[in-house]
Amino acid sequence: MAIVPIFTAMIRACIFDLDGVLVDTAHYHFLAWRRLANQLGFDFDEKANEALKGVGRMESLDIILGWGGLSKTRPEKEALAHQKNEWYRAYIREMTPGEVLPGVAGFLDQLDAQGIRKGIGSSSKNAKTILRQVGLTDRFEVIVDGTDLQRSKPDPQVFQLGAERLGLSPRECIVFEDAAAGIEAALAGGFWAVGVGDAEIFPGAHIAIPGLENLHWSALLEKLPL
Ligand code: BG6
Ligand code: MG
Repeated sequence: MAIVPIFTAMIRACIFDLDGVLVDTAHYHFLAWRRLANQLGFDFDEKANEALKGVGRMESLDIILGWGGLSKTRPEKEALAHQKNEWYRAYIREMTPGEVLPGVAGFLDQLDAQGIRKGIGSSSKNAKTILRQVGLTDRFEVIVDGTDLQRSKPDPQVFQLGAERLGLSPRECIVFEDAAAGIEAALAGGFWAVGVGDAEIFPGAHIAIPGLENLHWSALLEKLPL
């Protein structure tokens, strides 16, 4: 009888979104955008804020202006985005290693022990500042951030660039994301997608986990339909 080889995908790297997966900057983005909306005369809540997660700065501003029924010229938009970023940067300048989310350091250690490579795939132009503030820069071999991108999540460009710089194919990489737009981006690029947070937010993800705390590499691999 002929022996039919069974090929299973080999995972060689994990690519992490930053905001909301490794650190809780998603909340600082919310506070700064909300302050801007309030200044413009309207409000929005954390539930509405879900739509902004993973989405680039100018794209987020367009969504928010839409909520307020406002239209602005390009120079006005640039001034508003700049103002929001100033408020946001005041938060991140105060960040310390204590703000790395629970379980992150331990999970990165597990990956090191298994020889799994690690990258960042973030839409944020502030990603490198945040990584430096919380002492995580040296833990990642490859960092793709908003300064590298022409297209915002849900476009897969951010993760494709990450895989390219690692010299790997998407099927060799697992993406960890807290945003619906990020999971969409990972799936569109052909990556394995792990949703971090409330499972309802990303029905398409291969797996959903509440966070990296108590996450075991071997248990995660068993759950992926490799
Ligand atoms: C993403 C955040 O990581 O970065 C979004 O989830 C944010 O909320 C985007 O809008 C861009 O961030 P920044 O720091 O460049 O304004
Ligand atoms: Mg995020």
